[in-house]
Amino acid sequence: MKWSKYVKPYWRYFVLGPLCMIVEVLGEVLMPLWYSRILNIGVERHDPGFIILTCGLMVLTALLMMAGGVGGAWFGSKAAVNFAADLRQDVYEKIQQFSFANIDKYSTGSLVTRLTNDVTQLMNFVNMLLRMFLRAPGMMIGALIAAIALNPALARVLAVTIPVLAIVEFLIIRMGFPRFTAMQEKMDKLNSTIQESLTNIRVVKSFVREEREDRKFGRANQDLKDAAMRALGVVIFMMPMMMLLMNLTSVAVTWFGGNHVIAGDMPIGDFNAFLTYITQILMSLMMMSMLFMNSSRALASSRRIREIMEEKLDLSDENAAHKDLRVARGDVEFRHVTFRYYKNSENTVLNDISFTIHAGETVGIIGSTGCGKTTLVSMIPRLYDVDQGEVLVDGVNVKDYSLYHLREGVGMVLQKNVLFSGTIADNLRWGDENATTDEMAEAARSAQADGFIRAFGQGYETELEQGGVNVSGGQRQRLCIARALLKHPRILILDDSTSAVDTATEASIRRAFRNELKDSTKIIIAQRITSVMEADKIIVMDDGAITGIGSHDELLSGNKAYQEIYHSQMDGKEAA
Ligand SMILES: Nc1ncnc2c1ncn2[C@@H]1O[C@H](COP(=O)(O)OP(=O)(O)OP(=O)(O)O)[C@@H](O)[C@H]1O
Ligand SMILES: [Mg+2]
Repeated sequence: MKWSKYVKPYWRYFVLGPLCMIVEVLGEVLMPLWYSRILNIGVERHDPGFIILTCGLMVLTALLMMAGGVGGAWFGSKAAVNFAADLRQDVYEKIQQFSFANIDKYSTGSLVTRLTNDVTQLMNFVNMLLRMFLRAPGMMIGALIAAIALNPALARVLAVTIPVLAIVEFLIIRMGFPRFTAMQEKMDKLNSTIQESLTNIRVVKSFVREEREDRKFGRANQDLKDAAMRALGVVIFMMPMMMLLMNLTSVAVTWFGGNHVIAGDMPIGDFNAFLTYITQILMSLMMMSMLFMNSSRALASSRRIREIMEEKLDLSDENAAHKDLRVARGDVEFRHVTFRYYKNSENTVLNDISFTIHAGETVGIIGSTGCGKTTLVSMIPRLYDVDQGEVLVDGVNVKDYSLYHLREGVGMVLQKNVLFSGTIADNLRWGDENATTDEMAEAARSAQADGFIRAFGQGYETELEQGGVNVSGGQRQRLCIARALLKHPRILILDDSTSAVDTATEASIRRAFRNELKDSTKIIIAQRITSVMEADKIIVMDDGAITGIGSHDELLSGNKAYQEIYHSQMDGKEAA
């Protein structure tokens, strides 16, 4: 990834910030000079005029320094904030492009940390960098030149101090980097824990697992604390070390400088200025070490952001042969499809699957839990890509459609369906942004949702809380079906989408489908045999393979697995 992309649009701020800081540095170097001149010349000669003039210069310098300081901070902040906002946007957009397989790789918590904490870390670093990277060396060089000019002999003390400080800094930074990386990882873990526990807080409560969750959080919190202490320990250690070295240097300078003053070969004003410069040099070294420290932290963050930005999207439509093609009819064909979630594992989840569905047919899929039904239908809108074989829609490989047109044509109600916060109408409009009230009502009627929506005080304007927690499971399922219907998909896939709906309502939905979605292909995954019994075709799956395809009657007379499912579910009822 190219970081320059986030600098270029704001290059003015990136240039002006440090330039302003140079003004401040110049002021910092000039001030002691004016001061020493007052002592050396003004006081010595008892010249009030000279003193007033020099004081005037000092005020002017101070004002310039302030302007420089404010400008530097202003431009630096503008650069950093804009840099971070653009970067955050890009990371977010990249995550949005992730395929299901890409998402499987990261925990939500880790993605959130990268989007928030890591980007902020970089923002702070850019801000600091712009203020310091010219200032610290600038101050160092300026003060060094001034100090050498004042008294080259005395400046020799620095020849000892600076290398020692440099070595100490290097060692500290080398120690710091891995610790900051470790701290970030712990932060990730903590965020993942929070994320998982809070999104599933209802499950936690219903299983009375609060204490366990508290303990889990406590462990993650403790880990982060330990890691932070280890990382901060380096910083804690650094500051007093540097202080000690600074103080020792000051003592040495005072000792040697004092002797020079007594010997009469150094004016007291120069001695004073010299001491200030020494402090400045050491201060600038300190600033640089802070900068390095922060850069090691920023480097850890930048790696984590780069990992996201450079994550190879394992699903793209770049090489699609017919980008403008839309799904027109709704035929589906699987040819020897094989798939596994873990590419290096032996276990195939789908094993040499072949079948054909004609446009407009209703197809049921049935089979024991975990046998691969969801995985099978995920191949149609390309939520995952097949490993071997091919999936065709209207006779065209799904990889040859643009993802947009393919998914526009294929409406899928996911097994783990969720709604978003907003009104019911907002949620339904996910299917079609421009749907009119009538169209919405029509879709809702087909999904048997219109009745209960109207029963809510606010009707279609009823607010749904996050995830749709204020509607019942069956209501949520019906809203999700209506949302998919509004897309007017050529192929509609319902993945166990009526499991929480009572059988009578489910039968009404089936009837509505038959009458109103005549031309669309309907693929219905279900656990209940009554949900699929009337389908044109039923696919019976077992352990990633198809064990039978046919109508209800055909399967009932010829397919053992189907007979078993049928009898286990229906026998009691028939007797009753
Ligand atoms: N995202 C995933 N990553 C890894 N393995 C997965 C993933 N999703 C499903 N699996 C595995 O693939 C197999 C098939 O899962 P699938 O969800 O297709 O079953 P299913 O027939 O839909 O089951 P159910 O009736 O319970 O919904 C299971 O063994 C499951 O553990
Ligand atoms: Mg499933």
